[in-house]
Amino acid sequence: MVAPQAQAEDAELERSLRPRRLAEFPGQERTKRNLAIAIAAAKQRGEPLDHVLLYGPPGLGKTTLANIIAHEMGVSIRTTSGPAFERPGDLAAVLTNLKEGDILFVDEIHRLSSAVEEILYPAMEDFALDLVIGKGAGARSVRLALPRFTLIGATTRYAMVSAPLRDRFGSVYRLDFYEPETLALILRRSAAILGMALPDDAAMEIARRSRGTPRIANRLLRRVRDFVAVRNGGVVTLEAAREALAMLEVDELGLDESDRAVLRAVVETFNGGPVGLETIAAAISEEADTIMDVYEPFLLKCGFLNRTPRGRVATEAAYRHLGLEPPRERPAQAALWDGAGAP
Ligand SMILES: Nc1ncnc2c1ncn2[C@@H]1O[C@H](COP(=O)(O)OP(=O)(O)OP(=O)(O)O)[C@@H](O)[C@H]1O
Ligand SMILES: [Mg+2]
Repeated sequence: MVAPQAQAEDAELERSLRPRRLAEFPGQERTKRNLAIAIAAAKQRGEPLDHVLLYGPPGLGKTTLANIIAHEMGVSIRTTSGPAFERPGDLAAVLTNLKEGDILFVDEIHRLSSAVEEILYPAMEDFALDLVIGKGAGARSVRLALPRFTLIGATTRYAMVSAPLRDRFGSVYRLDFYEPETLALILRRSAAILGMALPDDAAMEIARRSRGTPRIANRLLRRVRDFVAVRNGGVVTLEAAREALAMLEVDELGLDESDRAVLRAVVETFNGGPVGLETIAAAISEEADTIMDVYEPFLLKCGFLNRTPRGRVATEAAYRHLGLEPPRERPAQAALWDGAGAP
């Protein structure tokens, strides 16, 4: 468990480490390329950028990219999140306060209520707000013009974004896990900002064990910095980085205690599966949503879990990673199925 103060410092650090321009943002090449073109074209036409939907696992740069887009477009960004809009009126108030060209960033956009979404459709499509005035037989609807704005939506749950909402985004980008080389680059940049010397081999070691995620890479870097401050006179070496990571119980692939708890539940408690997400969640006293958003995507990427119509199944690689012999009789792995996945 991380102390609240450490979390606050991490949040502060996260802000200071955020790249401000596309050119300072390593990785996600396809997304960057497409965004750069869309931004340049919008600026050339003197129009707001088309609405953008960003999705992917936590910590890969959705919020960072939203802010970069605002910066590159030279416009203001208003940041909010799906659950913050309790009633349609809450969204209407935000929309009417936007200025021409502004960006409205809605995090966790899959959590908008359907009543709020109804307001968003004409706003996105026609920059219009449909208001119903009066009640009963005398009620009539008036249409208010809104400033032309850009909606940027972010979500870890693409499948939970309603189809009508998805369709109203001009572009949709999926962020992928980062390669270790890219994470090493990010780490070197972060180290420079923190004023710390980070040898290449130590950077690569941290990068390889960061679950493909910049947020985790930066967090581990900070823990390594603490460790060497106390144990190694402030000098980062490969050895010291390894020791620090071992103390944090981050294994060679970057899995931490929680990741391994999920794997162990499937492998040991449920004999390799298939087992449902809710059942795994109950077994390790974790929220099913957290498993789905935070742990599972990387375990799938590592090839340790498969999704089948009947539940999650551990692969042979998962057994080996836990230091166990895979059973000779594997449970039948019915047609693999990418349930909550994205296109
Ligand atoms: N490509 C990148 N280069 C450098 N730093 C990055 C990159 N992507 C993310 N980061 C860093 O990782 C941290 C997390 O990024 P961010 O908050 O944008 O993730 P997110 O996708 O919005 O996560 P969540 O789903 O939890 O909201 C930030 O501190 C940011 O600086
Ligand atoms: Mg975010």
